[in-house]
Amino acid sequence: MRTYHQLTDPDRSGLGDQIGAQRKRVAERLAAVRRIVAVMSGKGGVGKSYVTAHLARALARGGRGVGVLDADLNGPTIPGLLQVPHTAQPPAIGLDGVKCISMGHFLDEGAPLAFKGPAAESFVWRGAMEASALREFLGDVEWGSLDVLLLDLPPGMQRYSELCDILGNAPAVLTVTIPTPESRDAVRRAMRAAVEHGSELLGIVENMVGGELKGSAGDDLAAEFGTPVVARVPWHPTPETWNRLAAQL
Ligand SMILES: Nc1ncnc2c1ncn2[C@@H]1O[C@H](COP(=O)(O)OP(=O)(O)OP(=O)(O)O)[C@@H](O)[C@H]1O
Ligand SMILES: [Mg+2]
Repeated sequence: MRTYHQLTDPDRSGLGDQIGAQRKRVAERLAAVRRIVAVMSGKGGVGKSYVTAHLARALARGGRGVGVLDADLNGPTIPGLLQVPHTAQPPAIGLDGVKCISMGHFLDEGAPLAFKGPAAESFVWRGAMEASALREFLGDVEWGSLDVLLLDLPPGMQRYSELCDILGNAPAVLTVTIPTPESRDAVRRAMRAAVEHGSELLGIVENMVGGELKGSAGDDLAAEFGTPVVARVPWHPTPETWNRLAAQL
């Protein structure tokens, strides 16, 4: 299969140029962002958004400029976690001064994301529209200068692949898992994909430790991928847990 950049025939749609222009625009918007970190797991409900929000707050309390892009377009939870007010001009400012953009800013309370398009093959439309919404977030939001931009990804690897494509390179990745073997196996697949794309692995956050959930997913994955467990987060952790994690990034 050829990519747009490999087209040799005259491309009358100008698609190659459009994609080049969009990447340039994204690069300009992110020029003053020192580091982009995708928070992902490949598994749902393990605490990606919770970790993203609390890590962002701890970084901000430590004096760093922090933004969060809520890349979960269908189930945005960041506005609630960061208590971001509605704003006409994103980014909004949440708890501890964290800047934030989320689809939640554009949806009525509780309304699902609706796409206009043909009913047939609507899943294709949905996928394409979500990717373009992400591209618009990255191309439109003026973050100003940031030390870290955290990207809260939804479960699965689709959004991560889109992100690599839109950014033109693979972002650094912070992985979240819970201790169980099931989580380990799902997260392993995600980490393999991240390594294949060329992402730097910053480490593993093992969440919900010390309770009912048994297993050693954090240590297992750390050994397999040669990357550290940067935090073990209990249920309802104290700010100190997040401060320690923030100090390692
Ligand atoms: N360490 C924790 N202590 C207390 N509550 C937690 C902890 N981690 C996660 N939660 C809660 O568990 C629920 C799931 O967490 P969260 O929404 O962050 O998961 P997620 O991985 O982002 O899910 P999704 O895959 O749907 O995006 C939330 O209600 C969150 O507040
Ligand atoms: Mg989430």
